[in-house]
Amino acid sequence: MRILSTKAIGTAAAFTTVIAFGLIVGSQRGRADSDNSEESKIQTGFAIAPVPLNLKGKNRSLVGLGSYIVNAQGDCNGCHSQGPPSEFVFGGIPYFGQHPTKVNPAVYLGGGDDFGTLDPGGLSAHIITRNLTPDKDGVPEGGVSFEKFLQVMRHGTDFDGWHPTCTGALGPYCVPPPFDGSLLQIMPWPIYANMTDHDLRAIYEYLSAIPCLEGDPGNPAGTDTHGHRCK
Ligand code: HEC
Repeated sequence: MRILSTKAIGTAAAFTTVIAFGLIVGSQRGRADSDNSEESKIQTGFAIAPVPLNLKGKNRSLVGLGSYIVNAQGDCNGCHSQGPPSEFVFGGIPYFGQHPTKVNPAVYLGGGDDFGTLDPGGLSAHIITRNLTPDKDGVPEGGVSFEKFLQVMRHGTDFDGWHPTCTGALGPYCVPPPFDGSLLQIMPWPIYANMTDHDLRAIYEYLSAIPCLEGDPGNPAGTDTHGHRCK
């Protein structure tokens, strides 16, 4: 009995060592980690974040998970930067066959990619991605509350009202019916709507930790309604 239990303890200890070693190797490997636990996503999230993160007063686990969702799954920056020519820095442009991929921090999640108009004639409003970076106080999207962010991600509400539905002739500040100008266009909110509250909270927390970029792309008035001032 005694011998058996000692052996069992020995086996358990060896097993634990193997697991511990696996965890260390796994964390070093970052994205190659094979287990799908939240902890490994958090670790990968920190490993792949392309900008320095300000964790002061933030929930660290949510920031890491948010980074994983934004940078490994949601590809928010694929649209919320200024388009293919500047999304990556030279030497790290994956589409040129350059490795490793290096995201351009100067435009990261700052918005400005112009998707053109929704009418084939090009007469109506251009749909342009917006600045998701925080304001000087670290509040995402230039100062948008989590409640509003949730409403955007679940229902596509455009709180800015920058492109109402055209009522008469098409013009550069409205979108052509049957598109509903009170809703965000092109932005994949109908898909993101399926995320859990926890995941959306993680994205929001991550967006509070990234550096601020000035500017308010997509705003037809050209003014800064979102308070995207970094100082
Ligand atoms: C396929 C391109 C695309 C992707 C991917 C995308 N977005 Fe967007 N997003 C847009 C566009 C375009 C707009 C502006 C739409 C408009 O003006 O009608 C927008 C608007 C937004 C807004 C509203 C901002 C505001 O100031 O009102 C938020 C918030 C947002 N996106 C968050 C995200 C997040 C978070 C992700 C990743 C999980 C993401 N987006 C990924 C295209 C995209």
